[in-house]
Amino acid sequence: MPPRSHRFDTLPDYPLALIPIRKRELIARGVDVIDLGAGDADLAPPVAATEALATASRIPAMNRYGFGMGNPAYREAVSGWMQRRFGAHFDPMTEIVPLLGSKEGLSHLALGYVNEGDVTIVPEPGYNAYKGGTLLGSGTPYLYALRPHNNFLVDLDEIPSDVLSRAKMLYLNYPNNPTAAIAPRDYLEKVVRRCRELDILLVYDNAYSEMGFDGYVPPSIFEIDGARDVAIEFHSLSKTYNMTGWRCAWACAKPEIITTLSKVKSYVDTGAFMAVQQAGVAAIESWAEFVPANVAVFQARRDAAVVAFRDAGFTCDVPQAAMYLWIPLPAGISSADFSERLLDEEGVIVMPGTGFGKGGEGFFRISFIASPERLREAAVRAGRVLATFGAVV
Ligand SMILES: Cc1ncc(COP(=O)(O)O)c(C=O)c1O
Repeated sequence: MPPRSHRFDTLPDYPLALIPIRKRELIARGVDVIDLGAGDADLAPPVAATEALATASRIPAMNRYGFGMGNPAYREAVSGWMQRRFGAHFDPMTEIVPLLGSKEGLSHLALGYVNEGDVTIVPEPGYNAYKGGTLLGSGTPYLYALRPHNNFLVDLDEIPSDVLSRAKMLYLNYPNNPTAAIAPRDYLEKVVRRCRELDILLVYDNAYSEMGFDGYVPPSIFEIDGARDVAIEFHSLSKTYNMTGWRCAWACAKPEIITTLSKVKSYVDTGAFMAVQQAGVAAIESWAEFVPANVAVFQARRDAAVVAFRDAGFTCDVPQAAMYLWIPLPAGISSADFSERLLDEEGVIVMPGTGFGKGGEGFFRISFIASPERLREAAVRAGRVLATFGAVV
């Protein structure tokens, strides 16, 4: 066999990849597994979407290649929604690109912008596609640690000037996975201003834009003056509509950026299934009936999880958005050891902080993908493991 590429060798193992295998093994052994691992809801998508998929899939034309253009109705629906939700107009044909999930777009974008030796600024802990996309593009991720003292926000002024001068892209994601942090508007204004000054492409991952709690409404980067010049924003049906498996998302930006991503994609995919895009139209149009009620379910889970994990001996803030608790561990307990023991001894799947990069050490993440009752049970089990650690630390 020929040796693998250097680029391949730089890729760390993907943290979530092994979870389904471990879960199967545990279930086969009769363990009562509580899976709070992936950000992958256990709830149903909108009925309108499943019905639209069934209908559309019977239409021969919907079964043909979508190509880059995809289903025009989907582009129109996305454009209308961006206008209604954020007051931002995007031309359906030139300023929007349908994606097979936002992960692929986030990953592929670097292939259009990054040369060997170029730097991208990657928050850590963070969604792994930023680092992975950069490495696949033979670029160099500059890892910026998101910690409580900086409110889990990237402060460009803390980054050395020689890094900033080589930086091509900055990935930002608020509401944030895994920390659940949100970005104040004045922070976003400053970031847009700095990216314009530094000529950095701002890659704004808004996968959790519809998952705000207690009345908090996450913004689009395009609500910020000047963002059009420097930003691309990614949206997804995955979290908003419980449609992770459908692989249906989009990016929007000025035509020059969209053309770049579309051209890369034209060599790696031939478009999302058009019947899925038709179902995407139905999902987007069902926003008012579906999303607030769905978010209320997650908010109730959040409330249950915060109380239960605090009662079990952990400290955690009350997140205002996303679908996660990012829970600190006492000093001296490694996040990998804790998560491993929680899985082995108690059958609870959580994500170790280091699954989101070294900067995530000292934390673990739970997802609100189980009922309040199961979240409470998971917290009790986690508390038992924490107590045994206390004995040995
Ligand atoms: C921050 C963030 N961005 C993007 C994604 C990818 O979502 P999808 O590819 O399903 O659209 C996820 C999924 O967990 C995420 O957490």
